[in-house]
Amino acid sequence: NAIEKGAFTWSSPSNIALVKYWGKKKNQIPENPSISFTLNNCKTTTTLSFSKKADKDAFSFDVYLDGEKKESFKSKIETFFNRVEVYLPFLKAYHFKIETSNTFPHSSGIASSASGMSALALCLMSVEEALTGGSVIPRAVEESQAETYFIQKASFLARLGSGSACRSLEGDLVVWGQHESIEGSSDLFGVKFPHQVHKAFKNYQDTILLVDKGEKVVSSTVGHNLMHGHPFAQERFKQADKNLKTITEILKSGDLDAFIALVESEALTLHAMMMTSMPYFILMKPNTLEIINKIWSFRAETGSKVCFTLDAGANVHVLYPQNEAETVRTFIETELADYCQNRQFIHDAVGFGACQL
Ligand code: PMV
Repeated sequence: NAIEKGAFTWSSPSNIALVKYWGKKKNQIPENPSISFTLNNCKTTTTLSFSKKADKDAFSFDVYLDGEKKESFKSKIETFFNRVEVYLPFLKAYHFKIETSNTFPHSSGIASSASGMSALALCLMSVEEALTGGSVIPRAVEESQAETYFIQKASFLARLGSGSACRSLEGDLVVWGQHESIEGSSDLFGVKFPHQVHKAFKNYQDTILLVDKGEKVVSSTVGHNLMHGHPFAQERFKQADKNLKTITEILKSGDLDAFIALVESEALTLHAMMMTSMPYFILMKPNTLEIINKIWSFRAETGSKVCFTLDAGANVHVLYPQNEAETVRTFIETELADYCQNRQFIHDAVGFGACQL
């Protein structure tokens, strides 16, 4: 190939699931469909530089986080390259320099795998497009579908890096996993929520409370695997399926009370699966529960529509409609910040996906 070297930069956001993905089959196929809000401020920016090398024997790459070489990231990326090589046959022909940075503090307990893997997948798609002059798009695909094809394949690749990463490319709501309510949905990549969303969810707010910045005691890979042979797994997968159907109606109708009930139940169910697996584990911290109780009291006292959700960790995502931003932020600053490490929290809101820089 004529192209000797080049570089591409993409910025990709994190996302927060409303119906959770927990449990997977071979090849990063989810056991149940999930849906997430794409975030706006929590992002990873990655520059991928590539230069042709003499041999094609092995992968060759260096990774930098905020300008510093990160040997510890290499094995995760090696695994990712091994999984995607069959879809990106040029991988062994080039040396890659991966330079990445996050907008959120490093080791904040905010997972960078979704934003990081989606940014890297998009950079790789740009390389493929450059190398093939765009012929990466099968001839059968119409020109007008080219952009969809690019994003879908990037999402497909991101999934192979980290499952939830396939939901980070677009916004404002993305579904991953085949489901009857979502036309075009697939286990292989994320798709934009195809229905008209009620205005109550426009610019929905998410303040992330940094409760614990420590390393997770159990990785999500191990957690997913513990769903194999889990006594409640099959019921949980059925429930997620049903919840996706329910939330589809909620997002269309704007029923915020129903939204709160579904989203909080999903978060607690995710953690209940961890507590009832064998071996069992707990990722919440005492302050996680303090915050949940404070949110419940505040809601009971004020009639606010604020609610919480959780990732696979101790941090709390506080979700609220835009028209409550002022009051909920005051509540967070006066009543919840004390339960965060160094009083740290990040105001974020629903966003619209990745962009090339
Ligand atoms: O993408 P993974 O393998 O790190 O799994 C993350 C799963 C949850 O964040 C707990 C839920 C979700 O759907 O994002």
